[in-house]
Order: sequence, then C-alpha cells, then structure tokens
Amino acid sequence: MLKLTYLSHSSFLLDDGTHQIVIDPFITGNPNSPVKPSDIKAKFVVLTHAHGDHLGDGLTIAKQNEGLVIAVNELANYAAEQGCITHNMHIGGGWNFPFGRLKFTIAHHGSGSPEGRYMGEPAGVVIKMGGKIVYHAGDTGLFLDMKLIGEIDKIDAFLVPIGDNFTMGIDDALRAVEFVNPALTIPMHYNTFPVIQVDPEQFKAKLAKNEKECKVMNFGESIEL
Ligand code: NI
Ligand code: MN
Repeated sequence: MLKLTYLSHSSFLLDDGTHQIVIDPFITGNPNSPVKPSDIKAKFVVLTHAHGDHLGDGLTIAKQNEGLVIAVNELANYAAEQGCITHNMHIGGGWNFPFGRLKFTIAHHGSGSPEGRYMGEPAGVVIKMGGKIVYHAGDTGLFLDMKLIGEIDKIDAFLVPIGDNFTMGIDDALRAVEFVNPALTIPMHYNTFPVIQVDPEQFKAKLAKNEKECKVMNFGESIEL
C-alpha cells in the first residue's frame, strides 16, 4: 500500500507504512501549505529542481530529520555544501533506496538559483514504493517522451502540472495524460500564484470525457493508491 498526501503546489508526501518521502516541500512562503516544515518527518527529500517553489524547505527538513536529499548531481552538491546528506543522481538513472526504486526523468524547464548558479537540469521522477508507481513530472512543458515513460512503467499515479505560464496548462496536460496513460491523474502546480490560476475541475471534466480517472486533491488530503 502507498499513502499519498498532497501538501499543495507540487509537494507530496509518500508513505508506505515504513518509509516517508517528501517531494518538493515548498512550505515557507506558500499561502496554501497546510503544514509547517517541523511537521514533516520524512527521512527522504526528493527535489525535482532548484527553483524556490520546489527546493523550498527541503534542506531544512532533511537536516531536522537527519534525512537524505535525493536530487540530480549539481543540486545535490549544493545541498551537501549546505550541510545535508545527499544521494547524487542524474536524469535516466535509477537507484534502489530502502523505500524502493527511484529514477529521474527529463523535464523541459530551468533550474538556476536566484544568484545564477547552475543547479543541473530540471527533472521529473518515477518512484516505485509500496507496490505502486508514481510519476511526478516536476515543472515541465509537454514532451513526446512521456509516452516512453508510460510504456516503460505502468504508472499508478501521474502528478502533472496544469497551472500554465511556467509549465503545461490544462490542454497540454490532457495530452500528457494520453501519453503516460496512468491509472490515476492528480493535477498540481496551480493556484499558488496569480499567474497560475486555473480551474482543476475543468481539467478533471475534460479527462472524464476521455474516460480518464482524475482526483483533484485538497491541500493536506491523503489517499491510498
Ligand atoms: Ni520551476
Ligand atoms: Mn515551479
């Protein structure tokens, strides 16, 4: 079993009953976050890229839990410089962690720091945990290789950005769902900022026409996959 909790924006907690992972924990400065950084007890912090709304409180959470930061090499090096324990990876590579297997995928986006430091390429991530497979697309535009990601693994839950402007909007995200063909789609990266205001129910309704399952999650809501 795998419990998935939506913390808002692109942040999710995964819990298999033994291990907890937090992905992109953007909490401080996030008007929609239902939690404080100190509430997160996850031992594994997965970061898709270095933008503030993804790196977020990741390093603080990793340090407070003596946890492990999992990221692409350049971002992981930055985390190590800040005093974190890290596992450095890169796009296309997978690794077997105590919770299961994790593999980074491509994402079409940026990943510089505010100071202009190169933090590696942005990524998506496929996580196999608790007998389920979750694909978190990170921040990205639509790309045809999503089809390959859906062919390589039978995705149980596809976490897809729909907010437009910085990532895919609803119409491109609909195509992404066609490519990945997951059992369940969960929209993310919307309504946190003025420029990413969209109606997730509109996305859900359009998916329903294609007979695709979609769950619009409330902030702090959990489901079992
Ligand atoms: Ni970003
Ligand atoms: Mn973002």
